[in-house]
Amino acid sequence: MAVIPAFIAENYFDRRSYAMAYSWTPQRRELDYLRYIGASDETAKELKVFGLSNFIIDRFAWVSHQYYLANRKLVVRRAVWGTFFSTLGSVGYYIAYLVIVGQTVAGLISLGDLTFLSGAFSKLQALLQGILSRFAIIAQNALYLKDWFTFFAIQPQITSPQAPKPLPTVIQKGFRFENVSFKYANSAQWAVRNLTFDLQAGEKLALVGENGAGKTTLVKLITRLYDPKEGRILLDGVDIREYDLQAYRRMVGTIFQDFVRFQMTAQDNIAVGNIDDRANQALVEQAAHQSLAQEVINQLPEGYGQMLGKRFDNGVDLSGGQWQKIALARAYMREAQLIILDEPTAALDARAEYEVFQRFAQLTQGKTAVLISHRFSTVRMADRILVLQNGQMQEIGSHEELLARDGLYAELFHLQAQGYQ
Ligand SMILES: Nc1ncnc2c1ncn2[C@@H]1O[C@H](COP(=O)(O)OP(=O)(O)OP(=O)(O)O)[C@@H](O)[C@H]1O
Ligand SMILES: [Mg+2]
Repeated sequence: MAVIPAFIAENYFDRRSYAMAYSWTPQRRELDYLRYIGASDETAKELKVFGLSNFIIDRFAWVSHQYYLANRKLVVRRAVWGTFFSTLGSVGYYIAYLVIVGQTVAGLISLGDLTFLSGAFSKLQALLQGILSRFAIIAQNALYLKDWFTFFAIQPQITSPQAPKPLPTVIQKGFRFENVSFKYANSAQWAVRNLTFDLQAGEKLALVGENGAGKTTLVKLITRLYDPKEGRILLDGVDIREYDLQAYRRMVGTIFQDFVRFQMTAQDNIAVGNIDDRANQALVEQAAHQSLAQEVINQLPEGYGQMLGKRFDNGVDLSGGQWQKIALARAYMREAQLIILDEPTAALDARAEYEVFQRFAQLTQGKTAVLISHRFSTVRMADRILVLQNGQMQEIGSHEELLARDGLYAELFHLQAQGYQ
């Protein structure tokens, strides 16, 4: 009986520690993040020029001190109560001992019984404590295991259907957006609203619109990173949700605005566009040639085997435009039927941009392409231009048609053109 309170207290404090670790998750995450930005090569420039070291150190010290104080309170309480209950266990043992000593003195039990009983008591107490503390450890781990199982029970929301339709080997008609609307989960506003248009097979469509107009969101919908909240997107007359997800994504080659600068070799940085063909040197070189990455790689001491980025030994960092050329090569790594480039040339110099688009036109001949750019010199090369404003389609047509229409496109075009006159 005397060891049971200690066991109950142990259990109680385990649950309290768990609850505290859980409720302090945002702060612990913030501490991790502060530690990361405080010591990363990616943030070093701005930390230095803006003089942010003390700001970050102070914030870290403050949050970690709050966490320390909360922890200390709990740990002290645990130590005090733990001492009290384990004392209780010992006191129980000695009371029992006194009782049998008393019985021996009174002649109720023999000296042999005393030796036997006192040995048995101390053994029993140790055994019981061992069993109970093992239970306590299991119960404690079970708390954390529950989170682990909850995590693995999360179901992906974007899935393949049970019986997927076969994808067209060559796109026949093209894509059709039917009254497509989409809203991000934590947002009250529609990012894309009531979009209806066709993207014909083989067409080059440019998306134009001011920052936040919904261009990247539209790309995320075509690539099925999100499904529309309303309406549907058809490919050759079939809702894209009815195709196998992996096969569908394989058909599309996308370079995002915020592409990843993988801290890997130049070769792998290009091969990620089609990782199954990672060892296909000829293909990687061809892709590099097409995106102008070849000239960047030619200057690297170790060529395609050169580690990029500063994280690992002998890593070489590139300029923004050089990285973009490398990323662009990923689009040419696969036989994609739809190529999507979200501001692929924003960081390129004028000559490189011109060349990239000369090649892009050749390479995407017969393919469908979606192009996002804020530079009208690029945009005007597209067959048609879709102008977005606040998630809605404002106008669609060729460069000439839209200029003649004298709407938003014409306004933005003339604004930019003015700067060059
Ligand atoms: N992950 C997200 N969660 C919530 N809202 C988002 C998210 N991404 C974008 N938004 C919001 O959705 C709207 C459309 O954003 P989107 O990224 O599509 O714009 P964009 O046209 O690509 O702009 P930019 O020219 O700046 O790249 C914006 O109002 C933006 O704030
Ligand atoms: Mg964008």
